[in-house]
Amino acid sequence: MSLYPLPWSWAAIEVNNLSLNRRTKKMLRNLVASASRSLVSVSRKSRLVSTQTGVAAQQHPKPVATVDGELVSLQLPSGEHHKFPVMWLRDNCQCPKCFNSQQMSRIIYWDELDTNIKPADIQADREKLSVKWSDGHSSQYKLEWLQDRSFHPEDQKKWLDETYRLPKAGWNAENFESILQRFKYSDVVNSQEHFRGWLEAMAKYGVAIMYDTPPTVESLRELGDKVMYPRRTHYGLQYHVKIKPDATNVAFLKDKLEMHTDLMYCENKPGINMLHCVVQTKGVGGDNLLTDGYYLSEKLKVTNPEAYKTLSTVPVTWSDVGKHGGRLFYFLYRTPVITNDLYGEFVRINYSQPQRSSHFTAPLEQVVAWYKAYDIFTKELNSPENQARIKTRPGEILIFDNIRLIHGRAAYDDNPGNERHLIGQFVDWDEALARLRVLRKDAGLVKI
Ligand SMILES: [Fe+2]
Ligand SMILES: [Zn+2]
Repeated sequence: MSLYPLPWSWAAIEVNNLSLNRRTKKMLRNLVASASRSLVSVSRKSRLVSTQTGVAAQQHPKPVATVDGELVSLQLPSGEHHKFPVMWLRDNCQCPKCFNSQQMSRIIYWDELDTNIKPADIQADREKLSVKWSDGHSSQYKLEWLQDRSFHPEDQKKWLDETYRLPKAGWNAENFESILQRFKYSDVVNSQEHFRGWLEAMAKYGVAIMYDTPPTVESLRELGDKVMYPRRTHYGLQYHVKIKPDATNVAFLKDKLEMHTDLMYCENKPGINMLHCVVQTKGVGGDNLLTDGYYLSEKLKVTNPEAYKTLSTVPVTWSDVGKHGGRLFYFLYRTPVITNDLYGEFVRINYSQPQRSSHFTAPLEQVVAWYKAYDIFTKELNSPENQARIKTRPGEILIFDNIRLIHGRAAYDDNPGNERHLIGQFVDWDEALARLRVLRKDAGLVKI
């Protein structure tokens, strides 16, 4: 008989069945048992060895790159698996002929790129992916660089949230005090960390206060310059909010200022509004009123989807006609109250009673529904649940996102003995975000 092909437990049974004397049987049983233990031992060892080899293979193997049609597949030692379009790789070659690393920009001309190009050879090592193209050109990509440009949707979302734009956090009157961050003027001007903290608060909540600001027009100018450039509008580089004898705008009156966004009649609406309180009325009133348009929009989407749909799709014409610096102007911009992007994400809020044009170029059958929805929206934005009040003190700058927040002002007494004087200035979001990304890069939070 041959014991070899049988499992050792079967072999033990076979031994028992053999017509052998007791001593021989015992010897054979011992042999089977011993062989069985050895085999288990060998088997465990071999499993361990193979497991260890497997672990070793998982921890330290080389990356593997393969071409799969229009995609390059990259298996990394960490277990990550990425796919990159062949054409995207060629387009983003990092060699000095294709990319200028000083300017951080692509320098190859579009007509030098072959959209039918194929990788002729592809290799990956622990640092980089190397591609030899069918036209003889060679490209190399650091693995870290590729990982940072991963096409996985979750990696793309992380990049969008951490580098492109920080996610917004909505607020209402109830949690306004807890989200409102205060920054000392000199800290923001002198410290990168405070500067970043201020811009991050602006990106997330759309509002912040700066305190201990020197009471000069230069203070606001300096802050705007620190971000990049202040935004010049038809009201100038800065504007003063106080009674003027030749008032051209309701903001220069002491009456209640209805909730609105500034310059919603501009396609490029100024992004960040900075209101430096130089003198505040000692009397009643003069509070700034703020409502988070983003919060309101998200709320309406759930509580009244019909009104939300109407307000986010029916185009409204916003206008401003006037005279400034001796010249007439007539601004027009047509966009819904809630303006979303192509993906349905909130972009901006537009709201103003005086600056809403009588030219309503929406389909006739949508107009009645629009007025009803606008009424619901107006009640919501003025509701004490949603509207925050803040009366700034001299030395404070109220800074708010004019793309997202709706603001107004309570009426106040403005007479020779009881004045109120604010200086206003805008900075655009493009400039603020351009600075914020660099500040986040310097803090080691993101890469460029
Ligand atoms: Fe305003
Ligand atoms: Zn190249």
